[in-house]
Amino acid sequence: MSSKTILLTLSILTVLAWVHARGNIMLGNPMGVPKIHHDVHEKYGFPFIKREEDVYVQCYKNEIIRAIVVQDLEGDGESYVKRGGIGRKNVTIKLKGPRGGGYRFLVDVYAL
Ligand SMILES: *[C@@H]1O[C@H](CO)[C@@H](O)[C@H](O)[C@H]1NC(C)=O
Repeated sequence: MSSKTILLTLSILTVLAWVHARGNIMLGNPMGVPKIHHDVHEKYGFPFIKREEDVYVQCYKNEIIRAIVVQDLEGDGESYVKRGGIGRKNVTIKLKGPRGGGYRFLVDVYAL
């Protein structure tokens, strides 16, 4: 294999890894922190339509969000923190499916 081929292969793998990771979130450290939200959020796909939702999670009284873990169970969705997050009392997480497809995300939020 020439070095050009190796470089090309590496960039393709990097792009694939990046695309694959678009649906996952791993923020903060969940070790030893109680879960305040643990739920599968899913929607069916419709032709030509992009399904999406905002997941809102709020802490009780004095808790602060320590970690946010989102797993894209179908692997072709997108997710990101829209508002709030680590160190705050609430978070809004955006979940999106691919155009024409549904989605399934496992959302875990940890707070103490
Ligand atoms: C989320 O928390 C912030 C403070 O961190 C607060 O100002 C805001 O009103 C909260 N949002 C909602 C919808 O409760």
